[in-house]
Amino acid sequence: MTVQSNSALPGEIVSLDELRAVAQDGTQLRYALMELADQIPDAIALGRGDPDLDAPPHVIAAAQAAVRDGRADQLAPILGLPDLREAIAEKLQRENGISGSADGVLVTNGGQEGLYLVMQALLDPGDEILVPDPRYSSYDQAIAQAGGRMVLVPTEPAENFELRADALEAAITPATKAILLISPNNPTAGVISPANLRAIAELAVARDLIVISDEIYEKHVYPPSQHLSIASLPGMAERTITLNGVSKAYAMTGWRVGYLTAHPEFIRVLAGIKAATAGPVAAVSQYAALAALTGPQDVLEEYFAIYSRRRQVMLDALDALGLTYGAPQGGYFIYTNVSSTGLGAFELCYLLLKEGHVLIFPGTAFGEKWIDWLRISYLQPEETLREALARMKTVLDRHRTA
Ligand SMILES: Cc1ncc(COP(=O)(O)O)c(C=O)c1O
Repeated sequence: MTVQSNSALPGEIVSLDELRAVAQDGTQLRYALMELADQIPDAIALGRGDPDLDAPPHVIAAAQAAVRDGRADQLAPILGLPDLREAIAEKLQRENGISGSADGVLVTNGGQEGLYLVMQALLDPGDEILVPDPRYSSYDQAIAQAGGRMVLVPTEPAENFELRADALEAAITPATKAILLISPNNPTAGVISPANLRAIAELAVARDLIVISDEIYEKHVYPPSQHLSIASLPGMAERTITLNGVSKAYAMTGWRVGYLTAHPEFIRVLAGIKAATAGPVAAVSQYAALAALTGPQDVLEEYFAIYSRRRQVMLDALDALGLTYGAPQGGYFIYTNVSSTGLGAFELCYLLLKEGHVLIFPGTAFGEKWIDWLRISYLQPEETLREALARMKTVLDRHRTA
């Protein structure tokens, strides 16, 4: 395949300024770009963060069985299927060292609903929450709609975007109620080291802060980095809300099953809001998630090996293009700096989509100040990634001014 030179973008948005105008915030920008890419038949999407791999076969079989024997027809309890909540509590104990029972587990419509419910229940107007910058910008809306105030805590490329305890401490004010941790992080692929996480836990205890720990990418951590759950550390279980789900780990985004664990009283508050809004998660998806969590886990290694190879393909190509990045420690994103091209990242994304038919998100979709950055996901087969990289090179060679 070759790049179709200067081919126009189909759809209503055709100019860079029009695109800028519709993208009022990070989430809108991501969706506007995805809509445009959907209209380009040969577009290669390196935008979204949803795994392209298939869910494990035993998961699909479990869902089919639930449909066949009528269990999928039944409305699940608002908190989630008891067997699934039990399996989640056991998983959290076994893999994450988080003790607790099924009482402290809520099954949600993806991690997305979980994070939204948490912010609505936790934050009162004026409460401050410390959030790593750049960040998964869905948190912005959830926090704003709860009346909370997001206080951005910088993370640095030179430190591979690890969120540091001292940076958090410097941002605490009398209004601070909570700290949001996302490790591995989206969009930066930064991972919080165990030593630093211990310091964050001590800070949370000392300053009496609640921690929300988004661990949705926990299965994608590149050694020597490692994953540690903050709720397993002394004094943390009672002040931590741990968020997770099967979307990323088991390549099950479309099934929409997330979960979170917290104090049982808090879980009941969340369930009250959930009952008034989305209701329970579809039973069929919960049976599938149960199979994912209790079935063979070797598929996780297979997925990880695939992501690791792709990551290397991407890093080698970015090096060849002269683009720098914070070395990705986890997840399946690379946050890369394009200032060496002389082009702004937003403009470059536009050109990549318009001329190269490659969808990549600008860093500004994850934080206003990241005007020189792109988030590239590698959720495509290796061959497709190579094609996307070749197209990127063609577009860059044509437009780079530096
Ligand atoms: C950091 C983070 N948390 C939560 C989610 C929500 O995931 P889902 O709703 O697919 O489970 C995402 C999705 O991209 C994410 O990146």
